[in-house]
Amino acid sequence: MLQVFNELNEILTLKGAHQKDGRNLLPDDLTLIKNGAVVFDETKIIWVGETSQLPEQYQKLAVSLRGHVLTPELVDSHTHLVFGGDRASEYSDRLNGVSYEEIAKRGGGILLTMRQTNEASIEDLFHDACQRIERIHSYGIGTIEIKSGYGLNFEKEYEISLLISRLKEKYQPRIQIFNTYLAAHDVPKSFKSSREYLNDVVIKLLDKLAPLKVIDAVDVFHEKNYFTKEDVDCLFKKAKSLGIPRKSHADELNDNDGASLSVSHEALSADHLLKVSDKGIKALAQSKTVATLLPGTAFFLGKPLAPARAMLDAGVKVSIASDYNPGSCHCDNLLLIASMASAQLKLNQAELWSGITLNASAALGLNDQGAIMPGMKPRFTLFKTQSLSHITYNWGQNFSTNFP
Ligand code: NIG
Ligand code: FE
Repeated sequence: MLQVFNELNEILTLKGAHQKDGRNLLPDDLTLIKNGAVVFDETKIIWVGETSQLPEQYQKLAVSLRGHVLTPELVDSHTHLVFGGDRASEYSDRLNGVSYEEIAKRGGGILLTMRQTNEASIEDLFHDACQRIERIHSYGIGTIEIKSGYGLNFEKEYEISLLISRLKEKYQPRIQIFNTYLAAHDVPKSFKSSREYLNDVVIKLLDKLAPLKVIDAVDVFHEKNYFTKEDVDCLFKKAKSLGIPRKSHADELNDNDGASLSVSHEALSADHLLKVSDKGIKALAQSKTVATLLPGTAFFLGKPLAPARAMLDAGVKVSIASDYNPGSCHCDNLLLIASMASAQLKLNQAELWSGITLNASAALGLNDQGAIMPGMKPRFTLFKTQSLSHITYNWGQNFSTNFP
């Protein structure tokens, strides 16, 4: 069925950004259309341009959206939203001076959420995840990546990967869900080494899940006291042999040369990068791997932000995601995080918007969305406000609205 949105105050097409592969963006690469119209069916965008140019045959279907702005759909490409319990008490400890790393050493952090997640039933986890997804969608985010990684044993990780797959079925096509396997998130204390846990649980379970075709990517927390370079090599080689894309938590708390390692495994994205080196930046710039920045985590942990400007100026493809999780970033509002971070990270408006649409889609390997151009998927976000600038100028305010 054809649909025609007409008289939109502004359409953010990102045509310029798309033509430049989301890199080296200048403000004009937003390619805004004022008083615009878009024609689409269920599967693709057919026409986009100024209302005054709308071809005659589409005019009778036109729905006026005066007072609205249309953008490519917002994409949160990094969340950990399936978890039990909360970490409010650790949050208080952190405010009172105990570091995230210190809390983890005491057996808290991810391992506390692991225990709370294992105490919860799958139905309770499913119910909570649905509520979180609906809330995230209410901000205008239509594609959400969800990682497993708080079960940390064979049975529970298996159940959580299937739970995310059930969420995918339940919400598509209204909300598109991407299922990332992060059993390599932390090492339970009952294992002697990360390698032992990797071999006994992570790889074995991956072998069981792969034929079910429920996993969209494999991820790993490559960090001191978590998983080593050798672990990453082993896991990523395995994933590649199974035809599953790779993503990583890289160079977050320490520079482990994680960006270069991710690039060498042709990962879809390397995420965090607070401590990325010049060498890592160079490797990213010369690759297709997207650098996903998670400024909400740096804000919440009180750490310096990632060197975004250095990456952008080197020609890296940069995206922004929330990292929503119970420990290091208990905020699910990507648009709020991106609005707050853009001035700190010194992003221009094209970099900001590409980071949460076009480049965020690329971080999930979705290259047929993220720009409003003929042939692309008709995945949009609609805001009830005068202009694109008004959306982030009023940071924290939610202008996202339902489609007519
Ligand atoms: O992306 N860094 C590893 N994983 C999460 C933190 C998860 C947690 O603290 O529960 C992150 O920040
Ligand atoms: Fe994360």
